[in-house]
Amino acid sequence: MIAYQKYSKKSFPQTSLEIGTGWYPVVPIAFFLAGTTKIYSVDITFLTSKQRVKTTIEKFLESFENGRLKEYVAVNDERMRALKELFDNYDLYTLQEVLQKLNVTYLVEDARKLSLQNDSIDLVNSNNTFEHIYPEILIPILKEFKRVLKKQQGVMSHAIDMSDHFAHFDKSISIYNFLRFSTTQWKWIDNSIQPQNRLRFSDYQKIFSDLQLPVIAQTFRPGNSIEVAQIPLAKPFSDMNPEAVAISHCYFVVVLNE
Ligand SMILES: C[S@@+](CC[C@H](N)C(=O)[O-])C[C@H]1O[C@@H](n2cnc3c(N)ncnc32)[C@H](O)[C@@H]1O
Repeated sequence: MIAYQKYSKKSFPQTSLEIGTGWYPVVPIAFFLAGTTKIYSVDITFLTSKQRVKTTIEKFLESFENGRLKEYVAVNDERMRALKELFDNYDLYTLQEVLQKLNVTYLVEDARKLSLQNDSIDLVNSNNTFEHIYPEILIPILKEFKRVLKKQQGVMSHAIDMSDHFAHFDKSISIYNFLRFSTTQWKWIDNSIQPQNRLRFSDYQKIFSDLQLPVIAQTFRPGNSIEVAQIPLAKPFSDMNPEAVAISHCYFVVVLNE
């Protein structure tokens, strides 16, 4: 939202699209509170549920009450009243009705082929999703995003966590551990529930550049190249500069102005 305001000079997107809804629709509800009129969220699988949406709303109401929400979203008062009312009467509605009241359309489809019009979306965003999508699928998805994004001041915002996700719950391994495996070994280790493509920052830069998606802002977390040096890296990581391999998180903003 902050990137959108900064680069589009508008306070919120009228239409938004998120890829990788996951279990809890945090981003769609944040857009609802900001004032967005059409909120799309696409995922190949339908992972949320009525209870999970309720839990998400409850967390928003709590963080509004304790004053923390305003650090992240400029909340529209009328939308907040509507959210409270929805929460208070939650049992009266089906999940479909709840999503409708939140202006959310959940697209259960492959983001390589979206059922959305050309030039129709103000903001496309993703959080911790690209690292789970292999380049042969990610590249067509980005092409599709380019198609649906508004050609004048359409904004894309993508936050990518390039750390080994196994290290998130196994503290005995480094966030670079997965880079020790060859491509063939990784094919055996990687799983379809939470696949990890192991792309590094420079790979994403190249993808955006090849697709002529103008990146107007990019930030990254440098990570720890000393920790990288302790891992017997497999190719192609062993051929890369350790500082480049160490970058653990990155964030890209693309703005179209064609
Ligand atoms: C890790 S989850 C997203 C997590 C969520 N953004 C969060 O922060 O909690 C990645 C999601 O991307 C979805 N995904 C992967 N490939 C996709 C595709 N081709 N089209 C649509 N969704 C896809 C997966 O189904 C999965 O739910």
